[in-house]
Amino acid sequence: MPDSTPQRFTDLAALRHCVAGWRAAGERVVLVPTMGALHEGHLALMAEARQIGRRTVASIFVNPTQFGPNEDFSRYPRDLAADLALLAQAGADAAWTPEVDTMYPPGFATRIEVAGLSEGLCGPFRPGHFAGVATVVTKLLNQVRPDVALFGEKDFQQLRVIQQAVADLDLAVEIRGVPTLREIDGLALSSRNRYLAPEERAVAPKLHAVLADIAAASRNGTPVAGRIAAGKAALEAAGFRVQYLAVCDARTLAPVERVDGPARVLTAAFLGRTRLIDNLSV
Ligand code: PAJ
Repeated sequence: MPDSTPQRFTDLAALRHCVAGWRAAGERVVLVPTMGALHEGHLALMAEARQIGRRTVASIFVNPTQFGPNEDFSRYPRDLAADLALLAQAGADAAWTPEVDTMYPPGFATRIEVAGLSEGLCGPFRPGHFAGVATVVTKLLNQVRPDVALFGEKDFQQLRVIQQAVADLDLAVEIRGVPTLREIDGLALSSRNRYLAPEERAVAPKLHAVLADIAAASRNGTPVAGRIAAGKAALEAAGFRVQYLAVCDARTLAPVERVDGPARVLTAAFLGRTRLIDNLSV
């Protein structure tokens, strides 16, 4: 494994100069956008990036515009030194770590809204969230100008929203999804898992287990409503507060009553104060 500290950029002109040099040399550039608090799930994206391209850039930016007023922006975990050490191990060439003022200078006025895909699932529970994501990701893509950008399937609605924005705005980048990395017990890795109390951590894998049951039972074209109701009841009995649990068309994310094409089962649920999301292919 390579282990040299990635070049860290906080100045946009310097970042652009560096990436332009790589591009001029014909080197394929891959971007992995993150909010830091890096874990093995992020590192799986970095490993994939190194397979795909000659140069890898990770961005670390806790984007204020994608957090709601009652969400965890101020207490979101931040540890830049640890993140840079992990990026060094992962062989990243550059870390783009802009300040909030660099991303959103006074007078910033533009917002990218992806209709339809942003409206279901997490949408109603996190007003403005996907507009915040689509706007910041569009900026990151324009700042870095990668050939490929990688996003985790863990945030499946986010991945679809970004794919739609990139297609609609003719951005010259390929968006690729990377499968979710999980703990041995099935819990999807997440920066928010560190908020879980030990007794919450013990029941958290139930989320994946319920998704897996529904995915297995939905494959044969039978109606999904009964399975969803049973799954929701099982989660609530285990102490979750379920926001949604749905089987959706994998492309449009519209709920389906039975599966007759590519589909995804998706959920968001609170355990105590911690909101967990997960999804599986059906
Ligand atoms: P963040 O939550 O830091 O996640 C960064 C990337 O890592 C996302 O593409 C996410 O889907 C992926 N990821 C997280 N956990 C994963 C896991 N267990 N397995 C595989 N991939 C995983 O998502 C964001 O940041 C932000 O919304 C961002 C896209 C950076 C825009 O601000």
